[in-house]
Amino acid sequence: MGRAQDRPVCACRYKRRGFLKSLASLGIAPRFLLADDFADGDALAPPAADDRLVFALGERAGERIAPEDLGVAMQQVFAYPQDPVSGQIRDGTRLNQVVLVRFDEATLASATLERAADGVVAYSGVCSHTGCDVTDWLGDVAHFKCPCHESEFDPRDAARVVGGPAPWQLAALPLKIVDGKLAVARAFEGRVGFLQPGQDPFGL
Ligand code: FES
Repeated sequence: MGRAQDRPVCACRYKRRGFLKSLASLGIAPRFLLADDFADGDALAPPAADDRLVFALGERAGERIAPEDLGVAMQQVFAYPQDPVSGQIRDGTRLNQVVLVRFDEATLASATLERAADGVVAYSGVCSHTGCDVTDWLGDVAHFKCPCHESEFDPRDAARVVGGPAPWQLAALPLKIVDGKLAVARAFEGRVGFLQPGQDPFGL
């Protein structure tokens, strides 16, 4: 199949694209946000199959990430997807933030193992409660913890909620290995981000 820019696009697509881009730039996640809603190389486009994963922060920001860069059951690392063709890092919205952790594969739940690559699991880094960055780590139980209202998520089991007010698990990002480095296998599975007051959980 050709790239998105090679296919005919109707005017309604441009209207929809503009609307979705304005939502994404505000950190508001529509129910379904697809890479095809954005032009190639758009920093707001959500992660798509074959995107590379690069460090979001620190001295190695922008460098591709290998499984070996992550210690086993060590605190999550923040990453962004990178368009494999244009090289554009998709850092135009917080909704594209991804948290990575590496585990012994034998400790992963079956659905999580299916999404993992060399034991590395990836989830949205935006809390499903009111949208804080999920930055904290409980090393004794290997759980993510949100610093705002103390929601906890289990990354070995689909980032299900194990404590606090978060209403649902973090969206999961299936991974694969390309050239020895982490890459995206499929789009996010699950809802990214949180609901604005009055927002329909099944609509925009
Ligand atoms: S924003 Fe994460 S627990 Fe409230």
